[in-house]
Amino acid sequence: MCGIVGYIGKREAAPLLLEGLRLLEYRGYDSAGMAVLDAGEIGIRKRIGRIANLGELLTERPVKGTAGISHTRWATHGGVTDANAHPHADRSGTLALVHNGVIENHSTLRDGLSAEGHVFLSQTDTEVLAHLVGKHFEAGGWTRATGNEAEGVESLVEAVRAALRQVVGTYGIAVVHRDLPGVLVGARRGSPLVLGIGRGEHFLASDVSAIARHTKEVVYLKDFDIATVSAAGFELSSVAGGQSGYEITAVEFQEKDVDKGDYPHFMLKEIYEQPETIRDAMRGRLSREEATAKLGGLNMNNAELRAVERVVLTGCGTAFHAAMVGEHLIEHLAHIPAEVEFASEFRYRNMPMPKDVLVFALSQSGETADTLAAVRESQRKGYRTLGICNNVASTIARESDGGVYMHAGTEIGVAATKSFTSQCTVLTLLALLQGRIRHLSSSEGLRMLDELEALPDKVRAILKLSDQIREIAMKYAHAQSMMFLGRQFNYPVALEGALKMKEISYIHASGHPSAELKHGIIALITPELPSVFIAPEDSVFEKNLSNIEEVRARRGPVIGIGTEGSRRLEACCDDVILIPKCPDYLSPILNAVPLQLLAYHTAVILGCDVDKPRNLAKSVTVE
Ligand code: M6R
Repeated sequence: MCGIVGYIGKREAAPLLLEGLRLLEYRGYDSAGMAVLDAGEIGIRKRIGRIANLGELLTERPVKGTAGISHTRWATHGGVTDANAHPHADRSGTLALVHNGVIENHSTLRDGLSAEGHVFLSQTDTEVLAHLVGKHFEAGGWTRATGNEAEGVESLVEAVRAALRQVVGTYGIAVVHRDLPGVLVGARRGSPLVLGIGRGEHFLASDVSAIARHTKEVVYLKDFDIATVSAAGFELSSVAGGQSGYEITAVEFQEKDVDKGDYPHFMLKEIYEQPETIRDAMRGRLSREEATAKLGGLNMNNAELRAVERVVLTGCGTAFHAAMVGEHLIEHLAHIPAEVEFASEFRYRNMPMPKDVLVFALSQSGETADTLAAVRESQRKGYRTLGICNNVASTIARESDGGVYMHAGTEIGVAATKSFTSQCTVLTLLALLQGRIRHLSSSEGLRMLDELEALPDKVRAILKLSDQIREIAMKYAHAQSMMFLGRQFNYPVALEGALKMKEISYIHASGHPSAELKHGIIALITPELPSVFIAPEDSVFEKNLSNIEEVRARRGPVIGIGTEGSRRLEACCDDVILIPKCPDYLSPILNAVPLQLLAYHTAVILGCDVDKPRNLAKSVTVE
């Protein structure tokens, strides 16, 4: 949610900043801007819309210089206007700041500053912070004419520190000053910021992917760190004062992760990656010898795992739907009571929990503010809290007491796809592991391993149905509304199918347990409202068929997602997508794929911007 890139070194900053912003565009795309320092000047350029618009502006009005900061915005405070775009300047116009996060006490701070004569040009909380830092810098009394550069840098860092001490809220920031072209100052609390180390150059970024082409070593800032960065080096101190320790981490990044290749959209590329990403989620974790899964990252031995009395799973959006699948898996395969809760609710809900509860936080990005808050609240209460994350360097991955990485590779499409199937795969391994130290026999364990290993080929077979699914999408793309229905393991998949359809095609869609239809929802059924039934030949197949008949009796069109050779499903649906057979507990993984393709093709047919749907951002780092 909002992306920051900063550069200081010997190269021209603007092209590097623009390239970094393009790679962070998934974090927000309402507006973009940059501030570049050159020979006693500060060039600020900003424009609403995509990064490409900023690129055009820079062609019309270039900025030169080897130090600068930049930002791509997902609007929180203030509408999408040029004035609200970052960077924001202080009242002297010599200091510029970019910000990711929310300053919760911005209006109190704004009132105080206004009373002192500050005039604001935007409605943003960020401009308030820029003015606050500027005010403290002015108060320090340093000027180019009277002080040397080292004193100026110290004064700027002190000004940032003083301002941040007054702030309530979250921030990842980068600051530059016209008269101090040799320094960038960065700081974080709650919003990620990474410092990239190069030769004679350094970077700041919200996400390592923005700078990974230029640096092989990074430092992930911790909350309350302030980074003072020059071309030659960097220092970390804390908002409270004093030095701050750090660790240098090697960058693990592959160029192909941020390249669409021959695919028209990242979403489609990521859908097609699923045979490999599911395999990668299992790699090295299946033990045929012990007929179980091995998840060393949990940092728990079998006795500790066996003592678990209850599992709580939390996350947001697609991760929440995977958590719902996990609830079924853990109860079904491990016979442990499991409960799922939205991360945004978990934090404020006071769940009575037994002593030996295990909390899992699911997050692709590992940066979702609500999920991070849930992790912290859970840890504060003393519960062992584990992460299921994709981004290994993320805050949730670092702060949780252990966990399991998804190893799905960077997911750029705003609509989560491969992360869902990887999360479900990891949760299946977890349920197998827990089941095997309880009641599952070794032959049952081996059968599960066989089924898991067969998954990638089955997904490959489903991907071959893409053209058929496009035909179906053509038929229904102009519906005003759609319904997704499923039972048991596939109720969360119905929710996920509806979410995919809504977020990228803007067709209103809702997901329900099939049997809930007759308790009210059936009133919506008309010949204009298509229903997508996830109805594999499983333990509730007959029940699903009855629910389909109820819809058909009211002339509602039905698209059935079912098992290959399912004649009875074919007979009662207008359209069917038949996919390979698998056990009930794996069906969410397979059934998600045709639903992803259905949403994808629908959005393309409707001319929607698939990878960057309106109003959204990939990573939601504000509550
Ligand atoms: O990075 P996370 O998994 O924590 O993200 C959670 C949700 O914001 C995310 O799944 C969102 O719902 C997606 N846009 C869904 O496609």
